[in-house]
Amino acid sequence: KALTSPARDLEGVRLVVTAGPTHEPLDPVRYLGNRSSGKMGFSIASRAIARGARVELVAGPVSLPTPSGARRHDVETAEQMQRALDGILGADLSGADALVMAAAVADFRPADPKTAKIKKGDGDPSAITLTKNPDLIAVIGARRKGPRPVLVAFALETGDDAAVVTYAQAKRTSKKVDLVVANAAHESLGRVTNRIAIVGKDGAGPFEEADKDDVADRILDRLRDQLRA
Ligand code: CTP
Ligand code: CA
Repeated sequence: KALTSPARDLEGVRLVVTAGPTHEPLDPVRYLGNRSSGKMGFSIASRAIARGARVELVAGPVSLPTPSGARRHDVETAEQMQRALDGILGADLSGADALVMAAAVADFRPADPKTAKIKKGDGDPSAITLTKNPDLIAVIGARRKGPRPVLVAFALETGDDAAVVTYAQAKRTSKKVDLVVANAAHESLGRVTNRIAIVGKDGAGPFEEADKDDVADRILDRLRDQLRA
């Protein structure tokens, strides 16, 4: 497989990919975060480059090498990710042909991050008050007037396949995106396996279990078809 030259079917496509978690500060040295590794988004970026796309990679805090040829924007928080996306896409969203939102954006952030380190001697521990982060892809979906940029969201869900597809389809309509990659999280023998199905306007494709590079190529195949539609 490594020896076959990749199809250049995304030649010149301006693609923005977000990847990884966001970290939401509690104080200058602590944060709320999640376990996203960023691998899915980085795989998509790297496969897209191999297929000819020009890729802007907006990365939360991850320890992964930049795919060769990607322009990388490092961010920590959801708010910083939103600003990076706004800068790339521009007010009229004309800065990209497609956006793949693979980042695990924190839904909530501490409402009142401390400017100085919280000290254990400060008193009894207090509850952390949270506030909602904006839904970055939904804000972009609501602002979009025409078919560009093509928008792809992810949905990590638990439940049986039918439930996963129902959740993903609900996210597709509420966020006003074209495609949702439904990821059915199963835990077996301590190993988390990912089964994905791509959900579009006309319903869900088949569930498939595959490694992240193969999943990336499947997503990019659907994205290419959407760009041509
Ligand atoms: N997303 C986003 N901004 C957020 C939260 C999520 O842009 N503040 C995007 C994610 O990058 C992903 C999609 O929305 O592409 C779905 O994220 P997910 O966490 O599965 O869904 P939520 O809408 O946050 O709903 P919930 O976590 O309650 O299932
Ligand atoms: Ca969420």
